[in-house]
Amino acid sequence: MSQASSITITLEGTNSSASMPLLTGTLGPQVADIRKLYNQLGVFTYDPGYGTTASCESKITYIDGDEGVLLYRGYPIEQLAEKSDFIEVCYLLMYGELPTRTQLDKFRDGVTRHTMVHEQIRRFFDGFRRDAHPMAIMCGVVGALAAFYHDNLDINDPHQREIAAFRLIAKVPTIAAMAYKYALGQPFVYPRNDLSYAANFLHMLNAVPAEPYNVSPVLERAMDRILVLHADHEQNASTSTVRLAGSTGANPFACIAAGIAALWGPAHGGANEAVLKMLDEIGTPENIPSFIEKVKDKNSNVKLMGFGHRVYKNFDPRAKIMKETCHEVLGELGIKDEPLLDMAMEMERIALTDDYFVSRKLYPNVDFYSGIILKAMGIPTSMFTVIFAVARTVGWVSQWKEMIEDPSQRIGRPRQIYTGAASRDYRAVDSR
Ligand code: ACO
Repeated sequence: MSQASSITITLEGTNSSASMPLLTGTLGPQVADIRKLYNQLGVFTYDPGYGTTASCESKITYIDGDEGVLLYRGYPIEQLAEKSDFIEVCYLLMYGELPTRTQLDKFRDGVTRHTMVHEQIRRFFDGFRRDAHPMAIMCGVVGALAAFYHDNLDINDPHQREIAAFRLIAKVPTIAAMAYKYALGQPFVYPRNDLSYAANFLHMLNAVPAEPYNVSPVLERAMDRILVLHADHEQNASTSTVRLAGSTGANPFACIAAGIAALWGPAHGGANEAVLKMLDEIGTPENIPSFIEKVKDKNSNVKLMGFGHRVYKNFDPRAKIMKETCHEVLGELGIKDEPLLDMAMEMERIALTDDYFVSRKLYPNVDFYSGIILKAMGIPTSMFTVIFAVARTVGWVSQWKEMIEDPSQRIGRPRQIYTGAASRDYRAVDSR
């Protein structure tokens, strides 16, 4: 980060003005450094939803929303989705460079050796209702890991931070699969360290002790790609939540649980589940035009789920890859007629030509297609956001690590415009 020039802010009608540095990163627009604004001019900035606020410096992920570009540590997502795999991407996100063969093997081993959870974790599940949403279970059980790794955990020690990251990347899929098995009433399946990350996850989700289960290479590749595409996305709502919680020095397992809670919402990671519900509700292609009319009606409060993005005002590059993967997976699984996919394609066609969506630059996002792939893979809708959480855990821990290692890091504490009552005197209850 370097200073390019400066910006002068003048308070109209006064003689007061202040010069603020304009900073440049490697890529992206310049950023006005307003840290001294309040001290110099006595004013705050107002930016609900933080649409024009950079909350931190980061070297991990870059998005150009106008051009539809996504880079992890400088590498285009398209290249990583095609040529890399999830564990290598985890290394890249955490350490900043692609690993050598030795580094990769050591890293894979480090993650793999942490896949089991403490046996006492099993007992947490008994406290949940059988029909509990698996994201509710994820919030609770991942948060509970803080109780197992707290007293000895020194977040200021780089080695301990690394072990915490390994534990999270390794154990979150185990807990996710346990949440699924619990809902089904099937026995938990222990991790298998001889399988790849994606294959082990599928194994824990689908295997039963009564018969052998062989992971399909097609599904393994599809799951791996889904994990790669969702691994990080700079300062989105859940990542910012993890950073905000982490900025207080909180236990990293608790911070990741906070991220899972933020991810759950339908405006964020919950959208893939919402897309499928929406397609189910629409029912048949004939109902699409009337649904689109409802979406365009401001009073209806209905959104086209899987469309639109705070940053992408162009095609989400992940959606393009997801769409290709979706066709590949359906093709390889021999699913010729998938009415949901036909409906999704028709909705995409309408939305990309309808002026409402075109003028607002609303393009399909990653969630529009991921749900259809996951459904074809036999994964129930309620698990979609859980799989997103499994993938994003590495992004969250990488961002958390980067924040702890940043010397300019301070506790996150936004300000506000107060519009409530001015100061007034308390009156006793009988005199109100
Ligand atoms: N359907 C219909 N209209 C939409 C949609 C949508 N999906 N998304 C945005 N709009 C409209 C808004 O109503 C607004 O219209 P207006 O200018 O007439 O008031 C305009 O487009 C701008 O939208 P904003 O709400 O300002 O966009 P914002 O950046 O705040 O929201 C968000 C982004 C939350 C993703 C939104 O597009 C949305 O709710 N999409 C559906 C949910 C979804 O798919 N979320 C997944 C995001 S990707 C991810 O988290 C992995």
